[in-house]
Amino acid sequence: MDAFRIQGGTRLSGRWGVDGSKNAALPLMAASLLCDEPVHLRGIPPLMDVRNMTRLLRELGVDIHAQGRDYTFHVTDATKLHARYEIVKTMRASICTLGPMLARRGEARVSMPGGCAIGDRPVDLHLRGLEALGAQITLEGGDIVARAKKLIGTTIFLGGPFGSTVLGTANIMSAAVLARGCTVIESAACEPEIADLAVLLNAMGAHISGAGTPRITIEGVDELHSAEHEVLPDRIVAGTLAIATAISGGDVTFENYPWDHLLALTHLMHEIGIVVERVDPSNELTSRCTVRVAADGTFKPVLFTTQPYPGFPTDLQAQLMSLLCLADGNSIVTEKIYPDRFMHVPELNRMGAKLVRQGPTVVVQGVDELIGAPVMASDLRGSAGLILAGLAARGETEVSRIYHVDRGYVRIEEQLNNLGANIERIDGETGEVVGGAPLILTKPMTSGAQKTA
Ligand code: EPZ
Repeated sequence: MDAFRIQGGTRLSGRWGVDGSKNAALPLMAASLLCDEPVHLRGIPPLMDVRNMTRLLRELGVDIHAQGRDYTFHVTDATKLHARYEIVKTMRASICTLGPMLARRGEARVSMPGGCAIGDRPVDLHLRGLEALGAQITLEGGDIVARAKKLIGTTIFLGGPFGSTVLGTANIMSAAVLARGCTVIESAACEPEIADLAVLLNAMGAHISGAGTPRITIEGVDELHSAEHEVLPDRIVAGTLAIATAISGGDVTFENYPWDHLLALTHLMHEIGIVVERVDPSNELTSRCTVRVAADGTFKPVLFTTQPYPGFPTDLQAQLMSLLCLADGNSIVTEKIYPDRFMHVPELNRMGAKLVRQGPTVVVQGVDELIGAPVMASDLRGSAGLILAGLAARGETEVSRIYHVDRGYVRIEEQLNNLGANIERIDGETGEVVGGAPLILTKPMTSGAQKTA
């Protein structure tokens, strides 16, 4: 298994362009199941989850052509109904094929996703929503089987114990576009990935309003048609690189930065004392800005709580926690989406951090320095947090099991190295340097990288 060997103490600088979003791309790809005509998506990141979704959609009768990051999806066999366990177990986002397949084919069988490293991740809200639309749902041999000759629009409340559900909203919204009559989703997820999905569905002929707010209204239509769409920039990757810049005391200008999707992070970074500023001429809120992030290596402590959008995203909790390890004082981090998403905490403590967890809260006592150590990644964003800690640590850090990070970041080591980091991808067993992730490299737009000891 590959690992990263990181020499800490380098400072990031230069320019970097943000890729298309994985979490937007996956439900957009699944939406191609909704029509018989080709759906064209641009800017799909070359990641393992995308590859798995491609595999799954092919098994579900979708013909897929890819040229670089531009993909065409075309349903050629609508008789396929089974998202098998072998694929679903590799990627929970497989669940977002359920709504589109049911709505278009009248039946869908999707293996029930299990728990994962970040905690219990039930799908009860997905199922409740589809049942409200008239689907009959049973569990057969570990598969969710949903059947409905025609879905019927209704009002659905999608709130759960931890807020709404992002992929649940994607599933219900996608299914409701082909339902008879009007559907209202109350307590819908407001994440930008949901608004992006609605843009594609409307371009395909759906009638959706309110996506990106807690109330989404969908007037059902009989069929959808071909459309083209560009995937929105990845706010979590952008946020990760922004925090990486800050923890390294660096200065990086980001292109294609989703400014309006990262306001909660920007607010906290300002409180911490980090420069985050728009450097493009417009003042409009937009998701494609030029933004400079700079820090001098001194950080004020803060309190933050992860929340559904537009609150602070759970997917950036580990990365910001790594930075707060180096703040001048005590910070408090509370996780309200996945209360057990703290596998990075003991690993950071191995690097000299002083973190104490009590339930869903971690007290971060700032220390003068982190010290390089071997640490193990257990999930995608936790791995990113450990890599950031390694960038700032004194000496060498080895992060093992980095296949997690490859699921959500396109060759993160090369992207960081282009900005001045010193990270090698090694064989975790032999310690030998290996060629790189088996995926396509995204180059930064330009690079003025420099290394400082
Ligand atoms: C999406 O997962 C993202 N995944 C996650 O990103 C992200 O952490 C999460 O949203 C929250 O922002 C993708 O978009 C592919 P949820 P999703 O349903 O939709 C509970 C990453 O690192 N819940 O919004 O599966 C659930 O347990 C990943 O890129 C129910 O109780 O998350 C959680 O506490 C990890 N019942 C909360 O709701 C349900 O039926 C939010 O989960 C569904 C969810």
